[in-house]
Amino acid sequence: MRVLVLTGAGVSAESGIPTFRGNDGYWRNLDPTKLATPEAFARDPQLVWDWYRERRQRIRNARPNAAHEAIARLARWTDEFLLVTQNVDDLHARAGVAAEKMVQIHGDIFVTRCSHCELCRCDYKHEHEYEHEHEHELGIPTCSKCGAFMRPGVVWFGEQLPRNELERVEDFFDGGACDVVIVAGTTATFGYIIDWAVRGSRGGGQLIEVNPEETPLSGFATRLVREPAAIALPRIADELIKCG
Ligand code: OAD
Ligand code: ZN
Repeated sequence: MRVLVLTGAGVSAESGIPTFRGNDGYWRNLDPTKLATPEAFARDPQLVWDWYRERRQRIRNARPNAAHEAIARLARWTDEFLLVTQNVDDLHARAGVAAEKMVQIHGDIFVTRCSHCELCRCDYKHEHEYEHEHEHELGIPTCSKCGAFMRPGVVWFGEQLPRNELERVEDFFDGGACDVVIVAGTTATFGYIIDWAVRGSRGGGQLIEVNPEETPLSGFATRLVREPAAIALPRIADELIKCG
């Protein structure tokens, strides 16, 4: 069985991580889709860092939910499996999806990289970040090599997707058509998410959408599951494992 899973913020919603487009995503009355942009960082890097630091801390305190666990179970059980997530949190990894079976197409929130040169570091355990009671008192990190501002290692609106991660997705498609494609917890606002879902299922495979709401992808799906991911995915994983 060959399985492709595409996920978005809705899969982490039940772990308490706010989605981008829901009302709960607003932070200090600001729209997250406007904060996750190069323009916002150029205008007010401190504000953007404050937001990302709060998100980092929320993610550190969160735990994978039943949806992450069901996907990890599928990943272990299927011979040919790829998870492409738009989520920059580490909840899929903590649920047990191996790095070689997962592509974080929008980057990793715990990476801090230079906005100018190639310097980059992982800030998962950067103690100064979370020992501080008032994270917003922290400043903007600067590069030890070139002095420029450091930025979170995520893809912002309008930026290119990371080339090696794109290649990994292409390699998976080169390996053949999928029996099942599952798209869960994403508004599928980006064309490439719809393209990958449709391409993956082109050989006659199922295309399952898990989302309480309709999305631009719904019209392409062969099965619509209008339930929260943490309820639907464990059942879908069980079904596939039983009949596979
Ligand atoms: P969004 O916040 O746009 O969408 C979340 C989706 O999850 C919506 O379609 C909800 O209906 C659905 N949803 C909410 N709760 C759910 C639950 N419990 N179970 C299943 N589905 C649920 O998040 P994304 O589609 O991931 O990119 O957003 C895509 C990208 O836009 C993000 O990666 C980020 C953002 O801007 C960048 O920053 C480049
Ligand atoms: Zn630098």
